[in-house]
Amino acid sequence: MDNVTVFPDRDSFVAGCADTIAHIAVTAIAERGVCTLALAGGNTPRSIYEFLARTAHTRGVDWTKVQFYFGDERCVPPDDVRSNYRMARETLLDHVPASPDHVHRMRGETDPALAALDYELLLQRVFRTAQPPMFDLICLGMGDNGHTASLFPGTAVLREQTRWVAPQYVEVMQTWRVTFTLPLLNAARNIVFLVEGAGKAAMLRRVLAGPYDPDVLPAQLIQPVHGQLHWLVDVAAAAQLKGTA
Ligand code: 6PG
Repeated sequence: MDNVTVFPDRDSFVAGCADTIAHIAVTAIAERGVCTLALAGGNTPRSIYEFLARTAHTRGVDWTKVQFYFGDERCVPPDDVRSNYRMARETLLDHVPASPDHVHRMRGETDPALAALDYELLLQRVFRTAQPPMFDLICLGMGDNGHTASLFPGTAVLREQTRWVAPQYVEVMQTWRVTFTLPLLNAARNIVFLVEGAGKAAMLRRVLAGPYDPDVLPAQLIQPVHGQLHWLVDVAAAAQLKGTA
């Protein structure tokens, strides 16, 4: 699999992911004067964002030229420990010279449908396009059940072909989420999956080397139309990929 990079240990995984994000940001800023970056939520990104905050300036990242977005959000207040925005603020945004009006959080504290609509209208205003905008980089995680962003198995949002941002009640977690949809995700210039840990090994093999079963394995639906897809994984998560194509 040519778009899968396996890192031998946790430190190299964290540094490698941070360097990849920094490189894409520097390239985007050099080419277009801005980097539109959608951050992933969950736990895996924590150490990556912290490393990025400490080192990206040494890789030439001009944080004042990065526009920060979120690929999904839990429907909780921004100071809630479950908030993806809070996680990103604590690990990255509070530690780099990001302009506050360049940080665009999903309003998880409001009605999910309104939050999704607000965010979609923001994207329409900022990108001034009727087609799904091309983010320079969308970071994604992968759950051990094959979900990514807030695209969970068996949910209606997997079939959304028009909206760019949608609300979705996730029965298995008994919670509302707001998420980028596949038309928006797959329009990206770069998508980077950040996957670590033995707990993801079986699912990573199913997603990358198993039968195509997207309603069960939503991460298989991430197929950038024109962009690049990168899987950045540690050796533990890649343990069951040996012997696959
Ligand atoms: C979220 C994320 C979600 C996450 C995966 C992996 O809001 O939870 O967007 O898609 O990336 O669940 O989470 P971990 O990195 O914590 O394993």
